[in-house]
This record gives sequence, structure tokens and C-alpha cells, in this order.
Amino acid sequence: MSTATTEFRTVYTVDELLASRSYEEPLIANGVRCHGGFDADGQYHSPRTLHRAPAIHGWQAQLAREGHDLVEISHALMPPQYPNVEQAKLLLRNGVQEPLVRALTIISIVEGFGAMIRDVSVPDLRELLVEPIDGTALDHLTLGLFEAHARDESGYREEGGHKQMWEAARDAALENPKVPGDVLMRLMGRRGRGGRPKPAFPEIGEPLERMLGFMANVLVVEVVAEGTFQWGIDVLSDPEVSAAPEVAGGMVRNIRADEKPHVEYLRTALSEVRARTIRTVDGKQIAGRVVIDGFLHRILSQMTKNRPSDQRDDVREGLIEAMAKAANPAALEEEFDALDSSWLAPEKTGFEPTSHAA
Ligand SMILES: [Fe+2]
Ligand SMILES: [Fe+2]
Repeated sequence: MSTATTEFRTVYTVDELLASRSYEEPLIANGVRCHGGFDADGQYHSPRTLHRAPAIHGWQAQLAREGHDLVEISHALMPPQYPNVEQAKLLLRNGVQEPLVRALTIISIVEGFGAMIRDVSVPDLRELLVEPIDGTALDHLTLGLFEAHARDESGYREEGGHKQMWEAARDAALENPKVPGDVLMRLMGRRGRGGRPKPAFPEIGEPLERMLGFMANVLVVEVVAEGTFQWGIDVLSDPEVSAAPEVAGGMVRNIRADEKPHVEYLRTALSEVRARTIRTVDGKQIAGRVVIDGFLHRILSQMTKNRPSDQRDDVREGLIEAMAKAANPAALEEEFDALDSSWLAPEKTGFEPTSHAA
């Protein structure tokens, strides 16, 4: 491994990876003190990035110097949000809020689930990987990276995180709407379907399989979320349908800025495994590339297949009932359906299996 220089420092303490810069002004949303804050020029700065951002940069630079790729998930794989921006605005213009309240509440709940990342157990990677991991993102997962991510998503102590920030954006834009009581229950019902998938790589052992599978899943969720943020910004910043276009739109922009380190550290750590060799439980070896690409291919194939219909089924379930509020429900339904985005999943995920074990 290369020696760390000041420019490309690669070893950090937990405290450093959790440290924030000082702010001129805190971020307060709908009366809730949130994380992050503004500098003297009014520029927003994400929490816990004082050292985390340069650290991730250093680990990425190190991978590049060693001649390895950083995994990149194509945005073409991300299905559009349903209802799309135009459909969402149409509903709001017609006084039909419920589907949007539901969609925004689901986003806030899913953000809060992000805190589960701190419970991922990390096996002894020095045992499981052939090559050393000193000074890598992998070596810092339990030294601040997972914890910073968890705090960003669900808040920490008196500070709200993304869960509270989405709620604040929803409540400001839609003027404290009534939130349906069954959002969480329905979401859990859908998530419970299918149970746990079969191991994709039993030869690497369950602890490593679970850790890598979880991280690959979260990475895909984070990349999908990038599309959701743009949707949120487009809908909530429109003064025609939003009561607080600047506050609510700005809030989603801040959340989006906070997501960048999540995508970056996850893809760095997964790329570090991909650049290494894994010891199998039966004393053999398998290329990290085979395993990481295998996970990403499986997750992306399922996501592109299932997400559009899952999201659509969920929204359609209460849509017609919610539309009954409009002056002319039948005309609204027709107009709504005419605005549908057509989308076809790309044929390739970019992580198709190419070769066998090392
Ligand atoms: Fe988030
Ligand atoms: Fe995130």
C-alpha cells in the first residue's frame, strides 16, 4: 500500500470521520433543528464531511493510482418515479394531495431505515481478503463511515436527519397535510414479501455475503434516490402547487447534497473488494470482481424489473379513491394516464458475469 501524504491521507479516526465544520447558521426546517448548516455566504454544507469528504477522495485516488476502477451504476437503469412530475402537479392542481403525501411519507420512512447500516456486522476482512486493507474505505466502515451514514439518514440526538427533513419539506409545501395512518404498514407488508434471497456466493461464507449484499443494495437504493430527489425538487419548488417553493425545494436540494458521500464511500469500499481476492470457506480463492459484479448484476436486474410495477401498484391502490375529491374525477384520471412516462429497462446492467473464479 502507498504511504499516506497530507494530500492523500488514507487513515482517519472515528471522531474525524464524524466531525462537522462550524456553521454560521444552523438548518431549521419547519421548526425542527436539522443537521448541516450554512456558511457566511449562505452556502449549505453537509454534516460530518469535514474529514469524511477528503478521506473518500483520498481512498478513490488510491484505487486509481493502483490501476483499479470505481464501480459506476448507470442512471439509465433507474426507472422514473410514479407518478411523474407532471402527473404529481396535475393531482395537486386538482386538489388531490393524498398520493403525494403518501409518496413523500414513504420517502421519509425509507430514509429513516438507512440507520440500519450501523447494525451491519463486518467480519474480519483481514482474514477474508488476500490483499491488505490498511488505509482503505473498507477499513473505516466501522470506524465512522457506517455511523456517519446512519446519523445522516435518521438524525442524531436533537438534530433531525433526512427522515425529518423530508417530513418538513412535505409539511411546508403541502401545508401540514393529514398523513394517512397506514403508510408504514403497507410499506412493511410489501417489504416482507419474498423473504430473504438465497445466497449468491455461498463459498464466501454468510457473514461476508450479508455485508457485501447489504452494501450493494444500499448503494443501488442511494443511486435510485438521486432520481427521486430531482422529482421532489421539481414538484416541491413549483409555486403553482407548493406553498413553500423555496423552503421545500431547498430542503430536498440539501438532502441531495448530503447523499453524495453515501454513494461515494459505498462504491469505493465495494470497488476495493472488487480489486482484491476473497478466501472461500473451503480454502480456495475467488476474485472480488466476480462477487461484487454478481451482487450488483442481481440487484440491478431485480430492481429494473420490479420497481416500476411495485411503485405503480402501490400508488394505483388508492389513486382512484383519492381522485374522487376532484371536480371531474373521470376527466382527471384520463388526463393523468395520458401523462404516463414510458420506460423500458436497458438490456444490460453493466455488471454481467464475464469470467470465473481466480
Ligand atoms: Fe438520505
Ligand atoms: Fe443516503
